[in-house]
Amino acid sequence: MTEWQKSDWRAKPRVQMPDYTDEAKLKAVEAKLASYPPLVFAGEARRLKAHLGKVSRGEAFLLQGGDCAESFAEFSADSIRDTFKVMLQMAMVLTFGAKVPVVKVGRMAGQMAKPRSAPTEVISGTELPSYRGDIINGFDFTPEARIPDPDRMLQAYTQAAATLNLLRAFSTGGFADVHRVHAWTLGWTGAPEAEKYRALSEQISNALDFMSAAGLNAATNHELETVEFYTSHEALLLEYEEALCRLDSTTGKWLAGSGHMIWIGDRTRQPDGAHVEFCKGVQNPIGLKCGPSMTSGHLKSLMNSLNPNNEPGRLTLIARFGAGSVGEHLPRLIKAVQEEGANVVWTCDAMHGNTIKSSTGYKTRPFESVLREVKEFFAVHNAEGTIPGGVHFEMTGKDVTECTGGVRAVTDEDLSDRYHTACDPRLNASQSLELAFLVAEELSARRSKLDQAATA
Ligand code: PEP
Ligand code: CO
Repeated sequence: MTEWQKSDWRAKPRVQMPDYTDEAKLKAVEAKLASYPPLVFAGEARRLKAHLGKVSRGEAFLLQGGDCAESFAEFSADSIRDTFKVMLQMAMVLTFGAKVPVVKVGRMAGQMAKPRSAPTEVISGTELPSYRGDIINGFDFTPEARIPDPDRMLQAYTQAAATLNLLRAFSTGGFADVHRVHAWTLGWTGAPEAEKYRALSEQISNALDFMSAAGLNAATNHELETVEFYTSHEALLLEYEEALCRLDSTTGKWLAGSGHMIWIGDRTRQPDGAHVEFCKGVQNPIGLKCGPSMTSGHLKSLMNSLNPNNEPGRLTLIARFGAGSVGEHLPRLIKAVQEEGANVVWTCDAMHGNTIKSSTGYKTRPFESVLREVKEFFAVHNAEGTIPGGVHFEMTGKDVTECTGGVRAVTDEDLSDRYHTACDPRLNASQSLELAFLVAEELSARRSKLDQAATA
């Protein structure tokens, strides 16, 4: 067998990728990106893999979240800070429920290429190519904007580098101090409508007070004011991924230098396709979206090609079936994993199976459906005796009105107020935090059952 090359995907069938018309410009951009530094270091990707290995054994819990599509227009320090902040709050609440560390992975610093359900879009009788994310073409509904432009990859790289730089600064510069994070949460649970979550946040306050009294504070324990935060995105635009792929001198293995974890979308997971071919050869943790059409046979073949050495933490299966459908699909895939004796992380993307059109014409996701899918995911794992390893959300720290429901109820009529997403509807800060409280309840109930079983 010949050795894997980062360009091998080019010989495989590709879907969902743009046809660039200016070949010379594309080559020049690829060459430039290939000469730039990678965005992440191989040691970090290995460390994330080790953490995910723990998730696969139930010794940690995965929280993955962020934008559906990061856009050039919404790029700002505030939006990075707000999403980071709400993820830290969620992680803290989840840690309390799960009683294990929470591995934090943003859909950030590179989540800019989008698969679409149709190649073209028709508005008032005019048909244009679909928007495919800011790294590929423009959102404006004009023929010029919709032409794929290779130069956008350079802007995406710059934006990803600046995002990652700020995330690293926030992670270690004091912003992530547990007491600050908890104080933000107390601000939210202090509101009358969030009263039902107050008891849990008071328990966290008590735990923190106890730690301080026992002499555990940021001055003595640096861990209390720093966090590890990782980045991830869908590895859809393979020209960009290949250009940032690097040989790691420590191990002699290839690294996708575009982010810590990359995933394969539900539309690009053909076992013999280009996307699987690329992901096969890099050492990063790999996510694999599993939608209703995933068969046991496909999953087995994908597990074999993506994780031939059965390395824990290498492969994260991201279930996204939709509320009401988890019981129909998840058990057969769990069975396939068990039959192969495969080490995987199971996580629940409770967004992509729950998109509907609101009565007011907006693409939305009801909060209740998102919660219901998470609950079904837990119920199936509890029944099968397997591990519900994490959750995956499209969310933002901003106060948008894109998903309906939640304690600060967003109604169909409200959707038009602050509907800013470049692609799919995201949970806002309040909805995200509320969901974390509800998932924490699930985790804590599961924990109690396991503890009871262990002492029985
Ligand atoms: C996404 O995660 O934004 C996405 C497009 O998901 P999926 O591939 O599961 O549809
Ligand atoms: Co999406």
